[in-house]
Amino acid sequence: MRIPIINAKGGVTKTTSAIYLALAASRNDQPVEVLDADVQGHASLWAYAAEDAGTPLPFPVAITNIVNLERLKPDDSKWTIIDAAPSGKIIDVCIRIADYIIIPTSDSPMDLQQVRAVMDIIPPEKPCAVLVTRAQRNTRAFGQTVAMLDDTEHQGAQAMPRFETVIPMRQDIKRAMGSAPSKLYEYGDAYVELKEDIARMKEGNR
Ligand SMILES: Nc1ncnc2c1ncn2[C@@H]1O[C@H](COP(=O)(O)OP(=O)(O)OP(=O)(O)O)[C@@H](O)[C@H]1O
Ligand SMILES: [Mg+2]
Repeated sequence: MRIPIINAKGGVTKTTSAIYLALAASRNDQPVEVLDADVQGHASLWAYAAEDAGTPLPFPVAITNIVNLERLKPDDSKWTIIDAAPSGKIIDVCIRIADYIIIPTSDSPMDLQQVRAVMDIIPPEKPCAVLVTRAQRNTRAFGQTVAMLDDTEHQGAQAMPRFETVIPMRQDIKRAMGSAPSKLYEYGDAYVELKEDIARMKEGNR
């Protein structure tokens, strides 16, 4: 399962979501690896720092590039979560090879414009879902973001597939870089949703 985490915007929790979802998968005995497809190397940095701290991540994190990604074959025996760079050709390649695309976004209506731009280049038959993260539930911005994602009322509006699970703003998650955090928080629920959606997809019921 090739599962890229993409967004044309930087700092929307792509790396954090890649590592936490891989952690959740690993702790649920789902074979998983992370491919670091961002020259910033934050996923690799996370893995090395965790190793140095004596709490190595329980899954491999490998560096990749456009050429390797292009050649990544479908493989149902494991999940390959790809931490993509926020710009460049890598996003197109990730979309092309993806079996399932995750688009993390903040709870800002402005950031949703970027999500829409990404959605516009994803072929309609490609399974994908938006994950709202770093959210502050009791704010107007959060309410607006969810309403815009789910909007089918306005002319031309199209609801965007999204995780029901929302990842709130959490200091623990913010500080998790370089460790193998013991608590998965809402990422545990996001993992279950993802697993169920992939199962539906395989049965052809999605
Ligand atoms: N749920 C959360 N609550 C609070 N802070 C968070 C949460 N998730 C991520 N962060 C913080 O948000 C920042 C951006 O996250 P991250 O580096 O994962 O984004 P990114 O999309 O990979 O960025 P880039 O485009 O630079 O690769 C980091 O400082 C991270 O620690
Ligand atoms: Mg990143």
